[in-house]
Amino acid sequence: MSFPLTRPRRLRAHAFSRRLVRETTLTPADLIYPVFVLDDDQAREPVASMPGVERVGRDGLFAIAERCLALGVPAIALFPVVPAERKSDGAEEAWREDGLVQRSVRALKARFPELGVITDVALDPYTSHGLDGLIDETGYVLNDETVEVLVRQAISHAEAGADVVAPSDMMDGRIGAIRGALEAKDHRNTLILSYAAKYASSFYGPFRDAVGSAASLGKSGKESFQMDPANSDEALHEVGLDLEEGADMIMVKPALPYLDIIRRISDEFGAPTLAYHVSGEYAMLKAAAAQGWLDGDKVMLESLLSIRRAGACAILTYAALDVAEQLRDRNA
Ligand code: PBG
Repeated sequence: MSFPLTRPRRLRAHAFSRRLVRETTLTPADLIYPVFVLDDDQAREPVASMPGVERVGRDGLFAIAERCLALGVPAIALFPVVPAERKSDGAEEAWREDGLVQRSVRALKARFPELGVITDVALDPYTSHGLDGLIDETGYVLNDETVEVLVRQAISHAEAGADVVAPSDMMDGRIGAIRGALEAKDHRNTLILSYAAKYASSFYGPFRDAVGSAASLGKSGKESFQMDPANSDEALHEVGLDLEEGADMIMVKPALPYLDIIRRISDEFGAPTLAYHVSGEYAMLKAAAAQGWLDGDKVMLESLLSIRRAGACAILTYAALDVAEQLRDRNA
């Protein structure tokens, strides 16, 4: 009888050897928790299309911050739910010193200075039309005019104490403009996490429900500024520009359908590459788990581990707290 000299299965035969040769890890320190923030201290509202996710007011935000710290999740990302009457064509609410995001950042940093706070820089929560920038009479999103507003928004976040500003708008040249303004205003250590490779994806549906931009957006698409899902080289081009303009970290979004992009970017640039496991990716797993078709906990861990294996140093995910709990209980 012939036999194989090399048996990869030998290493898989024992738990100890599987652990010894494991190439990728997933820990709470790799996770960022996104939070939908309401302007009403005690409010809590479930998001129907995202089981386990709530929109929260100040009290809920503090409770979440405490859980992050207790579980070892290093940072949260804030997404405001802006009431329709505060939206406008000029998105003036976006840079108001006393706006919801600015107040939330101040409150969080005063109470939990060690928790990293990341803010989203984009106009979609604030525009009456739900697009990420200012538009002309044809509905086209104007680049340079939008960048001016994004700079004001980013500066207002930095002044409130945000550790990381994260432009997710996909306008050209905004990283350089924001970096220049931060330097000029003495915010030298404010980090920029650039959504450099953000695709015009249909996986954002539940998020747009959660922040209420779906209704304003109607049928308009974001293809004139977000990337074509068919493109990969273009992502490298975008990332190269943003790093040159002063980005500290790069975000790829969505995550699972774009693992190849994460891999190419992290190989090519060696700069911190993060991934956003977006609302639709989360909702799919939750929906299948609710039907009893998949083991929800296990597929979530496997998905996040795969994103890490592709080269992401950290993952923004709505499952961050649940997964951090799973990891803690496993190691207990
Ligand atoms: C837009 C923005 C989007 C998400 C976060 N900020 C996408 C969009 O509406 O184009 C989606 C995140 C998710 O789906 O979880 N600035």
